[in-house]
Amino acid sequence: MKPIRKAIFPVAGLGTRFLPATKAMPKEMLPVVDRPLIQHVVDEARQAGIEHFIFVTGRNKGVIEDHFDRQFELEATLKDRKKKADLTLLQQDLPGPGSTSFTRQQEPLGLGHAVWCARELVGDEPFALLLPDVLVQHETGCLAQMIAAASEVGGRSNVIAVEEVPHERVDQYGVVGIGAKRGKMFTITEMVEKPPRDQAPSNLTITGRYILQPEIFNILAEGKRGAGNEIQLTDAMVELAKKQPFYGLKFEGKSFDCGSKVGFLAANVAYALQRPDIAPAFREELKKLLG
Ligand code: G1P
Repeated sequence: MKPIRKAIFPVAGLGTRFLPATKAMPKEMLPVVDRPLIQHVVDEARQAGIEHFIFVTGRNKGVIEDHFDRQFELEATLKDRKKKADLTLLQQDLPGPGSTSFTRQQEPLGLGHAVWCARELVGDEPFALLLPDVLVQHETGCLAQMIAAASEVGGRSNVIAVEEVPHERVDQYGVVGIGAKRGKMFTITEMVEKPPRDQAPSNLTITGRYILQPEIFNILAEGKRGAGNEIQLTDAMVELAKKQPFYGLKFEGKSFDCGSKVGFLAANVAYALQRPDIAPAFREELKKLLG
């Protein structure tokens, strides 16, 4: 497979599940410990070797663009106050000049439509897609694991991160059918978006990390509506799977669905417990709270 250099981050969603917190602030800027959700996901992409970060934004998302820009006043103040550690932190988080692009999804027509909005910025090469609602906690990030696995299959293949969920919850996700084993991955035999529980091909669900071939854009261009009258990415992948292989990777690590309040709070606890500067005191507080 050609190297994966570009990643798409769809960040146009309204974040209604977190109102009123998200009334004036994008949900992608909600902090998990002291880093915005979107920063965690960009960190994962950088660790995987991504060079260009493409954000599909919408109205009221300008602050995401500011977050990935330099903040001269703040830098000057930190320098004056000799806050070297804070300054280094700010600088190391910043993608290099020219390595970010922002485009807008003008209407909320679904994930497939958001991805299609990035077509000109991606061009004719395979790309990664990371949904910022999902965080995966592991030393080797989920996307890095996928790129390593993808390098073993080569050609025009597509790779999707999958995980097991309890059967009662399969109707909340894209679900895949399991075929023959292929190295660390398996061949995906079918994909279906939010199936009724009794029609799900398995309890392995699509986890918000994808490596896709650019041919997906031609299919998305048709603008066919699916579940919820939205242009569904999963439907376009079903079409593409008629011509190209799709593989599933059961990644290592724990995932958090930060699109839900409980998942978001759990992520905060889990990430705080991994931080040497916070964990000891935080553990004591948690013990007190839990009695
Ligand atoms: C999207 C995808 C779905 C996937 C999920 C992961 O759904 O369409 O296939 O399982 O993300 O979080 P959404 O959560 O946007 O409804």
